[in-house]
Amino acid sequence: MPAGERFTLTTPIFYVNDVPHIGHAYTEVAADVLTRWHRQRGDDTWLLTGTDEHGQKILRTASANGVDPKTWADQLVERAWKPLLATIDIANDDFIRTTEPRHETAVAAFLQQLYDTGHIYAGDYEGYYCVGCEEYKPVADLVSPEGGEFIGQLLCPIHGRPVEVLKEQNYFFRMSAFQDALLELYRTRPEFVQPESVRNEIVQFVSQGLADLSISRSSFDWGIRVPWDESHVVYVWFDALLNYVTAIGWGVDEENFQRRWPAVHLVGKDIARFHAVIWPAMLMAAGLEVPRTVFGHGWLLVGGEKMSKSKLTGIAPNQITDVFGSDAFRYYFLSAITFGQDGSFSWEDLAARYQAELANGFGNLASRVIAMVAKYFDGVVPTPGALAEADLAVIETAVASTTEADAAIERFAPDHAIAAIRRLVDVLNGYVTEQEPWALAKDPADRERLATVLSTATRGLGALAILLAPVLPKATARLWSALGGDGEVSAQPILDAAAFDGAGRVVTPLDPPLFPRVETLEGAESA
Ligand code: MSP
Repeated sequence: MPAGERFTLTTPIFYVNDVPHIGHAYTEVAADVLTRWHRQRGDDTWLLTGTDEHGQKILRTASANGVDPKTWADQLVERAWKPLLATIDIANDDFIRTTEPRHETAVAAFLQQLYDTGHIYAGDYEGYYCVGCEEYKPVADLVSPEGGEFIGQLLCPIHGRPVEVLKEQNYFFRMSAFQDALLELYRTRPEFVQPESVRNEIVQFVSQGLADLSISRSSFDWGIRVPWDESHVVYVWFDALLNYVTAIGWGVDEENFQRRWPAVHLVGKDIARFHAVIWPAMLMAAGLEVPRTVFGHGWLLVGGEKMSKSKLTGIAPNQITDVFGSDAFRYYFLSAITFGQDGSFSWEDLAARYQAELANGFGNLASRVIAMVAKYFDGVVPTPGALAEADLAVIETAVASTTEADAAIERFAPDHAIAAIRRLVDVLNGYVTEQEPWALAKDPADRERLATVLSTATRGLGALAILLAPVLPKATARLWSALGGDGEVSAQPILDAAAFDGAGRVVTPLDPPLFPRVETLEGAESA
């Protein structure tokens, strides 16, 4: 994508029945790194996130806690979900709550439009429902326990709990009418659902035949009222998916809507079906463009299973950030796990990578180079002399890392992007070791060579500050100011990172280092 294009990215909106764990934070961080990168390449970028507040799941949690659902949602949003964004340094442009008037009004208008154009009809629903998933479940998706407390009942395989039997008069969305159009969409635009594994699953699911979708409930009232029949509330997923367009002004601010839509949706693979089947069908029915891409990322696993609060395997993000900091959190989850695949979290792996890659690799390089500029050139970055092959190789690596990382971000592979940038860290560390500036400093005849080596190393460091800014916003801001960089590092054009010119800038030694050693961080596992 050439710089200067529009890029709108969304995260799922999170259920406020409980507090966030690192699985939720993973989606947020991935979205934030991708959008920070796009902003820094000059794209007209927008990051939307928020909370999903209606439905039975929230209603039941609130009742169990003796408060009304809105009060419950307000508390969770203010005490848990908004603070999460600060904990992991998310630079979102908007935060939508489905209980906000801007959302509720637009959802009602959208529904009315679909009703008026014949896409919605009244019918009877009889079947199963999992409140944990907030999803109608076909019998074929359910499991029978072989023993235990639920024997004889049908269970949701995701939550391991009995599904409920529903028999209600509902309104239905004629989703079946979009089966062929959806298959055509997947066929003609393979980039619409990614990665390949998720795409295959979606194509297979739709090929088996699409039923119409029940989109209202009448047995409880925590939701948006169906505008022509106030005894019904809108099915929570139908309500929630619409946040992606209600937040950017659909039906209210056409100019903004045109500017921000279509978006890329980043979601966990467990909810890819809602985004790649129901959502485009809803949009087609309304005559709107479908999303640009739905990317289904993998799960964070604990003991081989999806981390979840209901299974008591949830780890709170601040358990990690309190010890290692938010930058390390961001770096670890995006570099250690192949984006699109499942990955296991372990404290040992986190501590080892922190020490090797951040403290020893990047942090130490920054401290060493800046300390040598301070010592040998009174803190002023020297002007280079004639460049030798080794110097040119550093600059070429900086250019190649930039190009490769940019291409990797474009194909939703932040792990590859970080690996490409880490190559520059390794090359620079090798360069400093081989050029031995401390030895050159001993002989006045080597003064020009020393200037060239330290200026080249500083140039590489400047490039690293710019390239790593989307992943490590705090450490790179410190490094940028230690290098005497102009303005904010997050405002530096990322594609020009390799052109950083340090000559004449006044450096400031990094104290404490960017990533303090892990010995000082003992006790992480018991945090
Ligand atoms: N409210 C719906 C989304 C509506 S979007 C219109 C929902 N919320 S959720 O809070 O249950 O999950 C939000 C996201 O967190 C999902 O993308 C889900 O995949 C992700 N994760 C929840 N547990 C996770 C892991 N253990 N690992 C990775 N992602 C995880 O679904």
